[in-house]
Amino acid sequence: MASNKNVLILPGDGIGPEVMTEVRRVMDWMGNQRGVGFEVDEDLVGGCAYEKHGVALADETMDKAQEADAVLLGAVGGPQWDNLDFSLKPERGLLRLRKEMDLYANLRPAIVFDALVEASTLKPEIVEGLDILIIRELTAGVYFGEPRGIEELPDGRRRGVNTQVYYSDEVERVARVAFEMAKLRNNLVTSSEKANVMESGVMWREEVTRLHEAEYKDVELNHMYADNCAMQLVRNPKQFDVIVTDNLFGDMLSDEAAMLTGSLGMLPSASLGATDVTGRRKALYEPVHGSAPDITGQGLANPLACVLSYAMMLRYSFDLGDEADLVETAVNNVLAGGIRTADIMSPGKAKVSTKVMGETIIRELEKLTR
Ligand code: IPM
Ligand code: MG
Repeated sequence: MASNKNVLILPGDGIGPEVMTEVRRVMDWMGNQRGVGFEVDEDLVGGCAYEKHGVALADETMDKAQEADAVLLGAVGGPQWDNLDFSLKPERGLLRLRKEMDLYANLRPAIVFDALVEASTLKPEIVEGLDILIIRELTAGVYFGEPRGIEELPDGRRRGVNTQVYYSDEVERVARVAFEMAKLRNNLVTSSEKANVMESGVMWREEVTRLHEAEYKDVELNHMYADNCAMQLVRNPKQFDVIVTDNLFGDMLSDEAAMLTGSLGMLPSASLGATDVTGRRKALYEPVHGSAPDITGQGLANPLACVLSYAMMLRYSFDLGDEADLVETAVNNVLAGGIRTADIMSPGKAKVSTKVMGETIIRELEKLTR
C-alpha cells in the first residue's frame, strides 16, 4: 500500500533507541499483517551523531531527512554532552531538522485515556475525557532569533542575549493550521502570548485576529496571556480545544499539558511543514518526552508516546486513518487491561517493562484484527 514511501528513523540518545525498538515492532507488524510497509532507513541524531561525526546531525542525514516522506525521531541529549560547545550540543541536531525542514507547526495533542485518569496528579473530574491540541510554532521566536550569544563586557560582567522575533507571515501560517484543526474538532482556538508586555505578542495577537476576521469567522477565537493559560491548564483544562502559541510558550505549555495526561511518556507530536505543489508535506514525528538519561537501559521507558507518534505519522503523512485508529485503539485497550510502565503505574495494575509493553501492543493488534 505505502511501500513506495520511505521513512527515516532517528532513534537518537537515551531511551530513544529503546522506545524505537518497540515502535519498529509495531511497524513490522503493520507491514506484514496490514500491507502498510515503508522503506525504512535508520540514522543518527544528537549525542550519538556527535560521537561518530563530531556534529549532532551530519549533512548526509539532513539530506536524507529532506528527501524522506516522513521522519520518526526518538529523543536527543544526555549529561555526558552537557559541557559541549553550544553549537555541538545534541539538541542542535533536532533544532536543525526543525529549521531546515521548515516544520513550523508542531501538533501536541494531550488526551487523557480513561484508564489513566488516576495516573494524573490532578483530580479525576478535572482531567477525565480531556482532549486538547497544542499547536506550537516551531521554527522562529526566541529559539532562533538574532542577535543571540554571550558577550564579555569590558567591565568584567557578561551579557547573555536571545531575541524574540516573529514575522507576520510566520504567525499567520501557524494560526491557519490552528483554525483548520479546530474546524475538525470543537471549533475553538485559544491564542496565547504576552501582549501585555511584549511587542511581538501584540503583533501576534493582531495577526491572529486579522486572519480570523478575514477567513475563519466561523471558528471561535479567544486570546489568553501565556501565564494565565498556564494557570487555566491546571485549573480547568477542558475549557480548551486548540491552543496556538509561540515556540517558547509552546515548549512550556505542552510539558504542562503532558502532565495532565498522567505522564510525559504518553504524549506524541507531529511537526509539519507547508504542503508543496505536489501535495507533499515535510513532517517529523517524535514523542514529547526527552532522552531520560536517569532511566536509560533499565527497561523502564514508556514506549507509548513514540508508538502514538507513529500513529500520527500514519494519519498525517500517509492518510492511513484506519491504521492510525487501530494503533490508538490497541494502546487504549492495553491501558484499559491494566498494563502499565513504571511512569503511569498505579496500585492494582500490572507493571511491565518497555519490551513487554511493546509485545502487549502487538498481541492487542492481533486480537483487534482477528
Ligand atoms: C521539546 C524539547 C526541545 C525543545 C529540546 C530537546 C531542544 O524540550 O521538543 O519540547 O526545547 O524544543
Ligand atoms: Mg520541551
